[in-house]
Amino acid sequence: MWDRPGARCAPRTGRESTAVAVTPGIARHRHGKRLAAECASVAISLLSCTFAVGRKGDEPEGKVTDQSFKCIAGMTKLRHFYVDNLLGNRAATVAVATAGTGDYPEGSVVQLMPNEVMIKQQTGYSPATRDREFFWIDVDKNGSKIFTRGFAEVNNRFGLNCFTCHVKARPEFDFICEEEHGCDPIPVTRAMFGALQRTDPRCKGADQVSAEDAESLRQMGELVKALKEKKQ
Ligand code: HEC
Repeated sequence: MWDRPGARCAPRTGRESTAVAVTPGIARHRHGKRLAAECASVAISLLSCTFAVGRKGDEPEGKVTDQSFKCIAGMTKLRHFYVDNLLGNRAATVAVATAGTGDYPEGSVVQLMPNEVMIKQQTGYSPATRDREFFWIDVDKNGSKIFTRGFAEVNNRFGLNCFTCHVKARPEFDFICEEEHGCDPIPVTRAMFGALQRTDPRCKGADQVSAEDAESLRQMGELVKALKEKKQ
């Protein structure tokens, strides 16, 4: 059974213009009539009903559980990040990631860090997030555990909202930030991301840490400390 925490309706993210732009997507959805009826009562509620798409008996095809995640090295590496596809369509996902633009197919999994994941749910499921579901997972040598998941409401460990950053990627990049796609820059370097990937505790040999990675992880530790202090 699909079990998704979070509010039925979209939180106010300050990006309402995005939600307005995508509401026509509801009409194309197979439950569009029901939704239209729900939303028609108060025109403004169209905004907040965006996230009602896909509820009740309309579960996404990409059912995601703790077991859906694996050692990051078991995915396909493109440039500096990793991709996979939960519906067995990895080639299509790799094709979009390789091209660097275009819409990722349903079931696509994208990861840069072992514990932050974006998954593309079925078309029309969450138009405001372009069907991206965000996950923060806890990982250790025994596997992965979903800590939090959802659409516009999910924050990372520093209390920063995944959607708010990723929505800034220009439309042709389909929520993929990389470095030049329009998202605000982040203080985590590619060397730090690489070190985190190579020391993913779910992967064999993750305890063999090079001196270079050890240094990157040390710097990352300082950054995390500073960000946590800032959050308090
Ligand atoms: C402060 C802004 C910010 C927040 C918050 C944020 N991200 Fe990102 N994210 C970025 C940027 C910028 C990159 C690109 C970094 C790079 O390529 O060096 C990125 C990269 C990624 C990537 C690799 C693909 C890409 O977009 O380049 C994934 C997957 C990802 N983030 C998932 C998440 C998830 C899941 C969350 C929430 C749990 C999250 N992010 C929160 C800014 C953010």
